[in-house]
Amino acid sequence: MNLKGRDFLKLLDFSAEEIGYLIDLAADLKAKKKAGIAHRLCEGKNVALIFEKTSTRTRCSFEVAAYDLGMGVTYLDSHGSQIGKKETIADTARVLASMYDGIEYRGYGQSIVEELARYSKVPVWNGLTNEFHPTQILADFLTIKETFGKLKGVKLVYMGDARYNMGNSLMVGSAIMGLDFTIAAPEKYFPDKALVEKCLEIAKKSGASITLETDPMKATLGADVIYTDVWVSMGEPYEVWEERLSDLSPYAVTADIMKNAGDGVRFMHCLPAFHDLGTAIGKEIGEKFGKSYLEVSDEVFESEASIVFEEAENRMHTIKAVMLATI
Ligand code: CP
Ligand code: NVA
Repeated sequence: MNLKGRDFLKLLDFSAEEIGYLIDLAADLKAKKKAGIAHRLCEGKNVALIFEKTSTRTRCSFEVAAYDLGMGVTYLDSHGSQIGKKETIADTARVLASMYDGIEYRGYGQSIVEELARYSKVPVWNGLTNEFHPTQILADFLTIKETFGKLKGVKLVYMGDARYNMGNSLMVGSAIMGLDFTIAAPEKYFPDKALVEKCLEIAKKSGASITLETDPMKATLGADVIYTDVWVSMGEPYEVWEERLSDLSPYAVTADIMKNAGDGVRFMHCLPAFHDLGTAIGKEIGEKFGKSYLEVSDEVFESEASIVFEEAENRMHTIKAVMLATI
């Protein structure tokens, strides 16, 4: 398998064999790290990390993975560079590509990261856009594989706003890798029709199933994994909270939903999560609308079934695999 020089912009650009290879490479790098075996395989290289939106997991994963591989890192936030204000993406791409061996981008439209890649002669990695979050799915699928020993046929149910990066990427990843994927949401929160059609086409080859369901109980029956994300994503206006809460509250992951799924079900979340009122936004929204949690109850989040922190750790191992494979 040779992915040298490839960008990692969205899962649609990759085959099942290539995604499987990246997941297996991540498992191997994880085993090496746990065993204390050095793997400075990119010694002397450097990467630039552009973050136009905030991040904990993705930023730290890229940084730690780069250090483990022996690389230098420059972090550029939305105020610390000329990007977008005094310099175009096309010019930025050509400047950074002349100094670095790879560029990560987190920001708004998918078209921005695609443009960055078009003008960059070194690999560009998508660290989250409005439309897609492909490195997250590699971590999720590594975690599912570690838990269930396989990906094919695993019943993965995504609850909540499925029009955005997480719903889209989980659907695409499931279609390619052969999972039984269900969305539980009100119809207006279903993903873009054209993307659903594309995934149904891909699913024919992999044996995946794609189901869109409005009834949360019907959707979660027999689930292996129940997955959710925040109801309001980065970059969205504060005003949308009220409507989201009223539309999506029946789709919160509660103990009843987990019980409905059956024994052995696991809970996953890309994080950060509003499972209590312990954050500034959680407290403000929770108090305003009379809720003690938003998309997932604290009971589920803290339960034995929750594998969210294993999932978060796997962000680092999988991002390391992407950099190693493509640089
Ligand atoms: N899951 C995820 O991308 O987290 P961060 O926003 O902290 O990077
Ligand atoms: N949908 C969320 C994912 C965060 C990892 C957002 O874009 O804010």
